[in-house]
Amino acid sequence: MIKKTYLDRVVAPSLLAADFSRLGEETTRAINSGADWLHLDVMDGHFVDNISFGPAVVQTIHATNDIFLDVHLMISRPDHYLPRFIAAGADCITVHVEAQHDVGETLKRIREAGCLAGLALNPATPFTEVVPFLDKIDLLLCMTVVPGFGGQPFMMDMMGKVETAAEYRKAKKLIYHIEVDGGIGAETAGVSARAGANIMVAGSTTFGAKDMAAAVASIREA
Ligand code: DX5
Ligand code: ZN
Repeated sequence: MIKKTYLDRVVAPSLLAADFSRLGEETTRAINSGADWLHLDVMDGHFVDNISFGPAVVQTIHATNDIFLDVHLMISRPDHYLPRFIAAGADCITVHVEAQHDVGETLKRIREAGCLAGLALNPATPFTEVVPFLDKIDLLLCMTVVPGFGGQPFMMDMMGKVETAAEYRKAKKLIYHIEVDGGIGAETAGVSARAGANIMVAGSTTFGAKDMAAAVASIREA
């Protein structure tokens, strides 16, 4: 697996928009369409108002594919469930700064397990909340929708936060990726990339496309 830096564009289709009756074939379709990473949205019905899937699905995809698994935990107690997602074969685990846990300690445990450590913040959360952790992460996820559901419109006003994250990274000589998630298609990927994001999570515009390869390419080239 080629290691990506924050200078590389990464397209990460979100399995949330896949056909759940055919997850194996859908994963293969994403890989054959040029996806770099597969984004897995885990929701517990508490942290967000939706329930998706858990470690068993992550484990099944890991066991049958080589693609890099980008696991986004939208759950209230990421610290409690962490060992199960590590064992399931996650490559990157992203936890929310708003969840109920010792954020610094959870990030440390993720890295100690050999995974990339990601930290996410909701649209309503100011950048200052993540600043204490930016030297302890590999990825900062700036949500561009309120998490919980696919297919919502991109929040353009989050671009200031992405710009601030990129400026801060440069000023402090840090190396974290900046990921955007929610409402990403070719056009909004271009806007996000210009603001400083390099990892594009996209559900409806990739799995929902007739020609997924063309959709992935258009997001990569935007
Ligand atoms: C939102 C999830 C996203 C979602 C994106 O709660 O974190 O990853 O699947 O879906 P689209 O690309 O359809 O906005
Ligand atoms: Zn996500």
